This record gives sequence, structure tokens and C-alpha cells, in this order.
Amino acid sequence: MRHLILGDLVGRSGREAALRAIPVLRVQLKLDFVAVNAENASHGFGLGPDMAQALFAAGADVITLGNHAWDRREIIPYIAQEKRLLRPLNYPPGTPGAGMVVHTIADGRKVMVAQVMGRLFMDAMDCPFQALEAILQRHRLGNGLDAILVDFHGEATSEKMAFAHVFDGRVSCVTGTHTHVPTADQQILPGGTAFASDLGMCGDYDSVIGMTKEPAMTRFIRKMPGEKLAPAEGPATLCGVFVETDARGVATRIEPFRQGGRLLPAWPSL
Ligand SMILES: [Fe+2]
Ligand SMILES: [Fe+2]
Repeated sequence: MRHLILGDLVGRSGREAALRAIPVLRVQLKLDFVAVNAENASHGFGLGPDMAQALFAAGADVITLGNHAWDRREIIPYIAQEKRLLRPLNYPPGTPGAGMVVHTIADGRKVMVAQVMGRLFMDAMDCPFQALEAILQRHRLGNGLDAILVDFHGEATSEKMAFAHVFDGRVSCVTGTHTHVPTADQQILPGGTAFASDLGMCGDYDSVIGMTKEPAMTRFIRKMPGEKLAPAEGPATLCGVFVETDARGVATRIEPFRQGGRLLPAWPSL
């Protein structure tokens, strides 16, 4: 199967670029599955239900969130009834929505997507390792599942790497989100799990992680609350990875994907 996984959509720039590109990329890259992180799609903070609907209509199969999951409160009733929209698994029990979904694509193949949130330099959360372990007791690659994609939403590359090694061979890929900066460490681990520490954002890179530069710079220089942060609105670079999985569900390929905006383009070798 061919999967495209895109990192955090930031603001209008990232959102509209993704909406335009996904239908085209589905054809050009012969994609079977598209997963998108959209925790910053709504003016940098959260996701509106209308935006989620537009992304699904454009061809996203599953959308993940993160620490900004609840910034738009209208998403709370929406996530309760939209199984294709995920928040991290390791929120406390009773949190609205779900952290995993088994999604059936048009040809009947089944892809499980799960999201966990890291604990280093992040809010206190339940254990992400135990959270995924519990899910994998009930859902196994090959056992009715053609692929398992895991979005690790976290700040620390060490935590993401350790996590990928723990689950190596049991999931198709572990890809990081949240830092908004793409890493160049795409690889297939010894057990067959594709890994990248961070996908990077889909947004304007003439910014501070997607937000306009001036208020962000002022915050660091003056250590005083300043002007409200707003997303940068220049052309977006779409950032993510292209992952191919075999009949067993393990990865045979992971390549960077970058298109548009300021970063050097990267196109999978088809
Ligand atoms: Fe983000
Ligand atoms: Fe985040």
C-alpha cells in the first residue's frame, strides 16, 4: 500500500495548500491512504469541524490532532461522532473522541491509525508506551489489518526514536509531529517499521514554526507577553513522508515528501 502522511497543517496557508494538493497527490502518487495532522489548521490553534469535513472531502482518510486538540471547542461534539478524527490515545480515560481507528478503504483493505502524545517537554499525560501496547494486544498487523500507522506527537526526538524501536516490527510506521520542523532521519528500522522523528509542518516556513516572526521574536527577546501569535500567511511547504507497505504490513520504503513554499522539494522515487 502507498501512504502519504502529512505533518501539522498550520493556518490558512497550510490548510488551503493541503486541500488543493491532496486530490492531485492521490492520483500522482497512486496513494491508497492519506493521513494528515491538523491540530493547528484553524488559525494556528485547533481544528474547526468545517475544516475537518473539507479535508475528508479532499481525500484525507484520517486526521490526527495533538496538544492543540481542544483549542476550537466546537471540535468536542464533532470528534465524539467522527471516528476518522483522532486525538492522542493517552489522554485520561473519559476524554472525548478516540486515539485510534481502524479505517476501511474503498477496496476493503483496513488501516489502523493511532496517535500518542509524548511526555518530554509536554503536558503530563498517561504513558504513551502502555497506551499503544494495550491497543496492540487486540489489533495485530496481518490479523485483518493491512497497515498500522502511528503518529507520535511530541517535542523530543529521543522519546520518538525510543518509541519506534519499542514497537519495531509490530506497526508499519511511527512518524513524529508537533515540532513543525522536518527531520532527515527517515529509515526502516530492523524489524520493518518505517520511522521519521518529525514530518515537519505544512505551512509557511518564513515564520517561527508557522507563526508570524515579529511577535514570536519579541517573546524571546523581551520575555514579556506581547502581540498575539498568528499564523504566517505566505506560501506553504507541504511536508510529510511517503511510505510503502507490503502484504505483511511492514514498510518497504519511506521517503520524504516536500512540495511548494521555501523548502527544497522532495518527491518520492516512483
Ligand atoms: Fe503542531
Ligand atoms: Fe503540537
